[in-house]
Amino acid sequence: MQKDASGNGTLDPQSNRIRSITQKFEETFGSPPTFIASAPGRVNLIGEHTDYNDGYVFPVAIDKYINIAARRRTDRRIKLHASDVNDSWEFNLDARQSIPQQAPAWSHYLIGVASLLQASGRTIAGIDAVITGDVPIGAGLSSSAALSVSATLAFLTAGSELVGDGFPVPENHKKELAALCQRVEHEFAGVNCGIMDQTISLLGKANHGLFLDCRSLEYEHVPLNLAGHYITICNTKVKRELAASEYNKRRAECERGVDILSQWIPGISSLRDIALSDFKKHEEELPALTQKRCRYVIEENTRVLEAVSVLKARNQQITEKTDEALIQFGHLMNASHDGLRDDYEVSCKELDLLTDIARSITGVIGSRMTGAGFGGCTVNIVHKDALETFQTRVRKEYQKQIGIEPEIYRCHVGNGAQVFWNSELS
Ligand code: GLA
Repeated sequence: MQKDASGNGTLDPQSNRIRSITQKFEETFGSPPTFIASAPGRVNLIGEHTDYNDGYVFPVAIDKYINIAARRRTDRRIKLHASDVNDSWEFNLDARQSIPQQAPAWSHYLIGVASLLQASGRTIAGIDAVITGDVPIGAGLSSSAALSVSATLAFLTAGSELVGDGFPVPENHKKELAALCQRVEHEFAGVNCGIMDQTISLLGKANHGLFLDCRSLEYEHVPLNLAGHYITICNTKVKRELAASEYNKRRAECERGVDILSQWIPGISSLRDIALSDFKKHEEELPALTQKRCRYVIEENTRVLEAVSVLKARNQQITEKTDEALIQFGHLMNASHDGLRDDYEVSCKELDLLTDIARSITGVIGSRMTGAGFGGCTVNIVHKDALETFQTRVRKEYQKQIGIEPEIYRCHVGNGAQVFWNSELS
């Protein structure tokens, strides 16, 4: 097992998680697992509701994971134990992979992954598996994408496709696997999501943001030199009840906008194709609500491009002086939230309150909701000297006004999904 960075002999958090899931596996199945497949959650820094409009996003992988400890079986059974909820499920790889009515919601993702991997012609094998995680569920940090991605790794590793770098398939298959995990959401969980969450869970890189073009799936890892600032996430702890139905409505409104605008702007197939200047010329042709939705998406795409170019320019010459570039990055995050609140209307009073509190604190350079909205989390860039004030003020004021204690996580930007062999860990 690894020592932590301070060298003081304590285990780093991921090693601790792996040790504890290994123990749980032994308790459940009587002997150790052979490997642990691990996939991170994500927080999106900017570029919200742009992925399904073929646009740009800039998420990071966070140091919260769904881990699956597993061991290959000699038959075709998949025996699963979700230890956080103390629930089990099993299925046969040769059976028709529709979802039985009694199957618990978490198992749908694994049934879906197994089914689509087999349909794609990949070799997978039966496994015993224990699943645990610390990505908060339903908080907009992509716990379900992390579950699908870690399940994909677990099945492929047991199917012996491991190529030796901690990932069971060559690097250039990751995009295809992200698309497969996205289909699991569409076909097995009924969520019509975009491609961002699965891609960052597979392709995240420590201390880098992923600048992703959601049309071509071309990407670039952009170094995040946050110069004494931390990515800090605040969880409203509000259930995102409207998220699924309103998400689908937003998608439909965007498509409607493209449909109408294509009469005036030839050759467009998504909002990503429309320049802000062209939109302004023709926006009056749209019904008021559609106009607001489209305006937000077109402006948000522009903000992502600007945010990434600001960071890249800054990375070439980092100075000790007041960091104008980071401040500009923060302004773009704030503008993103304002658009999500006023034009796209996917925020809620709890998210708005958290961003208001954050922005009133000196040392917070940007604060916005992250993920689909209607609850979930905000993402904040906070200077290290302001962290204590931030935590105290956010806790106190949010609790006073909403009556719920929020959760606050200071995040490290980690790597994408990987596999650890038990033999190498002990
Ligand atoms: C959810 C979806 C993503 C993306 C975001 C909003 O997280 O899964 O595909 O659309 O909402 O940016």
